[in-house]
Amino acid sequence: MRLILAPMEGVVDHTMRALLTSLGGIDRCVTEFVRVTERLLPPRVFYRLCPELHSAGRTAAGTPVYLQLLGGQPLPIGENAARAAELGAPGIDLNFGCPAKTVNRSDGGAILLREPERVHRIVAAARTAVPGLVPVTVKTRLGFEDDELFLDIVRAIEAAGATELTIHARTRRQGYRPPAHWHTIAKAREILRIPIIANGEIWSVGDAQRCRESSGCDDLMLGRGALCRPDLPRIIRSALHNSAPAVEPLAWPAIAPLLIAYFELNLAAYDARYVGNPIKQWLAYLRGYYPQAALLFERVKRLRAPADIHAQLLAEANACKPSAGSPGAPSMAAC
Ligand SMILES: Cc1cc2nc3c(=O)[nH]c(=O)nc-3n(C[C@H](O)[C@H](O)[C@H](O)COP(=O)(O)O)c2cc1C
Repeated sequence: MRLILAPMEGVVDHTMRALLTSLGGIDRCVTEFVRVTERLLPPRVFYRLCPELHSAGRTAAGTPVYLQLLGGQPLPIGENAARAAELGAPGIDLNFGCPAKTVNRSDGGAILLREPERVHRIVAAARTAVPGLVPVTVKTRLGFEDDELFLDIVRAIEAAGATELTIHARTRRQGYRPPAHWHTIAKAREILRIPIIANGEIWSVGDAQRCRESSGCDDLMLGRGALCRPDLPRIIRSALHNSAPAVEPLAWPAIAPLLIAYFELNLAAYDARYVGNPIKQWLAYLRGYYPQAALLFERVKRLRAPADIHAQLLAEANACKPSAGSPGAPSMAAC
């Protein structure tokens, strides 16, 4: 079983990848999408979205990061895929799932799922342009309006030479509304030979198990679930993989120091004016699982100065530390 961290524009950047992969359980990451129109993009665009290219395309924990491209024209996709590979991306991923209206209006993302033949040409262009040893993977949804073309789409992707395929089990029209239709992925699993990675609505070990049974896929991609529960990949691996060691879920006292680590990664990477948003955004995800995150979110949501936010995070971590009277035991009173 492999577990892949989902690409999430504006959420899973290199600092979040560094943090989540440091906790273990993740086999691969994918960058936010690089938007390709008609020209060859300068290297700085690739380095900005994937600074891991400076370290052989791997996070500090050694997890490979595939670079994702999004665009509707085969030629520029091929040229930019070749450039990403030259810069050291360990794999290229092509996005055919983005539901955003602005992206779809400008000929990119899920709108291309109305034209399986064009999907084929785009994937083939990337495959031809990139050295054979570098994987070219694809991420798709079930379709645009409905899943009528689904099997044509996945056949086109395999025939174009894709190494692997991730399927987010919803159409563009279904957006992010639950449920995810994992059983539809099984239809692709029956007819394709390449590995398929199932994606959508995996929030727990139970979801992971049901998704694997229903889709027939061993491998999973985790998005929002891994932001709500940063140790979800590790827990799923330990629960569903026979040889993995058993692990205890992380309680809030273990999460609080991670918030500080994440905030400091952002302070080092970005202008101080922008470091408040990522931590607030992560707290907004974490509060789906940890009630303490909701309280902390309320305390930081209006703060702007990095020093004030940092102070709140430190106070939270200190309040969660084991008390002097009971060494080793987390004090849950304040958490
Ligand atoms: C805020 C946000 C940003 C996303 N950005 C991307 C992206 O850049 N590329 C992509 O292929 N999918 C993107 N997705 C889709 C996710 O990769 C994933 O397919 C989707 O969230 C379903 O998985 P989940 O239920 O585990 O979150 C994004 C999703 C969200 C919620």
